[in-house]
Parts: sequence; structure tokens; C-alpha cells
Amino acid sequence: MHIAVVGAGSLGSLLGGLLAPEHDVTLVGRDPHMRQVADEGLSVTGVEAFRIHPAARTDVPDAADLAVVAVKSGDTAAVADQLVDCDLDACLSVQNGMGNEATLADALDCPVLAGTCTYGARLDEPGTVAFTGRGEVVLGARGGGASETADRVGAALADAGVETAVAADMPTRLWAKLAVNAAINAVTALARVENGALADGPGAAVAADAARETARVAREQGVDLTDERAVELTRQVVRDTAANRSSMLQDIESGRPTEIDAINGYVVRAADDPVPVNETLARLVRTWERAD
Ligand code: PAF
Repeated sequence: MHIAVVGAGSLGSLLGGLLAPEHDVTLVGRDPHMRQVADEGLSVTGVEAFRIHPAARTDVPDAADLAVVAVKSGDTAAVADQLVDCDLDACLSVQNGMGNEATLADALDCPVLAGTCTYGARLDEPGTVAFTGRGEVVLGARGGGASETADRVGAALADAGVETAVAADMPTRLWAKLAVNAAINAVTALARVENGALADGPGAAVAADAARETARVAREQGVDLTDERAVELTRQVVRDTAANRSSMLQDIESGRPTEIDAINGYVVRAADDPVPVNETLARLVRTWERAD
């Protein structure tokens, strides 16, 4: 399968690297990372260590069987515009935050699948991505239910050894992943700690409160996500990605805008009743963004 991974930053590069031994992978990202991958290949370190030679470019190709979109949520609309001219059979978003699939589906003619990904990755230098935690890709029809496209894409990912589950309840899964990101990302970014620091102590308490608030908002939207499940999933991801620096921590350390609007900011906007922990986390991260 020809797979274009659009948004070859840390997670996109890791997924592209894991898929490349089995599939014809094109990474689409920024220089100097793309130039280095094109010249020397992609070096994966950490949980698995290998070097692989996917194609690498800075613009989307004319055609692919599948586009895996891994850009920051703030860049989804721009990427959707670029993908309009790419002949695609299917598109899969593995992005953080809510609303990305709808933006892609509004622009594209092909089926757009929803996905969540809990693999941990860090871009160490151009051409080198650290694999910091084995997670899981869960994908399926964005409105829920069975999907032949989801089955086909899920099988392609699994063939490459990527931990993959095809799910018929993606709306619930997306809210569950939102709860995990709302719990982990802002707290690790503000406290400047790896995910594992939220295993216990004060950071774990703040994370659990943010996860519970997110589950409550999910239920307000008719999604069946209990507080206990949201907290349990958060704990599981903290354990599985203990050595990972969350994507928001990496954004803050690199001086990039964060995904706060699509994560804790989304929870605040969607809530009927106050969500003080998410609101405080969002305000603090925005304070950092304004001061930078
Ligand atoms: O955004 C992230 O960093 C990741 O989604 C996750 C799963 C929280 C792991 O760090």
C-alpha cells in the first residue's frame, strides 16, 4: 500500500518508520528533517532501533492509497486544502484534539477515518526519531459503526506490526483520548516533566481531575464515558509512555504553538457547566504562549 504520512514530526515520523518495512511510505514534513531522511534515511532509536529509507518530501504527493494525517490540529485546515489535489482512496487522522476528521471530511472526496494513537515519539534531530513508548492505534468510521475501509486500513497497519484495533465506537474513543490528552499534556507541559511523573503525587491528582471533568462533558454530549474509565485510561497511558515527553511539552520546549485550543480549550467550550481544572490548565498554557 502506498501510504503518505502527512505531518512527519515526531509521531508521524515514528508511524512512517514503523510502516515502511511493509509498505511504500512517503513522509511529508518540513526541512531540514525531510532533507536528512531523503539523503540518509530515517533513524529510529529507543524501544526499537533501526534505520529505514522511506521517500521524504515537503509537499503532498499527487496520489496515495492512504493519507495518515499527523499534523498539529491547528494545521488541519491547511493540510486538508493540500490533500484536495491528492488522489486518495482513504484518509486517517491520528491527531490529538477534536474536530480534525470533520475538517478533513468537509474537504476530501475519499472516506475519512477517525483514529487515536498513544505511541510515544520524540524528534531528537533531523533524521532521527526516538520511539519512547509503544501504544496503540485505534481507528474506525468517524460516526461509529462498521466500515470496510477501516478494516482494510487496520489490516495494513497491523501487517506492519503497529498495535492496531478497529473500533465501531469512535465517537466514544475520541472523547476517551481527549480525556487522556486533557489530563496529561498541559500538566506535563506546565510542570516540565515526563509522562511518568503523573503516576502518583500532586500531578496525578490534577491529571485525574482533568480526566473526570472531560468525561462529564462527554456524557453531557451523550457519549458513554465514565469518570472511572477516563482516569483508568489516563493511568494506563502514563504507565505505557512513562519516558515520553508529551507533545505539548515538546511544543513548549521548542517554542511552538501548542494544541491547547483543541484539547483543554475544547473541553471548556463544549461544557455546559464549569470545568475549572481544564479552564485553569488552558489559561496557564495560553499565558505561556502569549509570553513567549
Ligand atoms: O500528545 C501526546 O503526547 C500523546 O498523545 C500521549 C499519548 C499523551 C503520549 O505522550
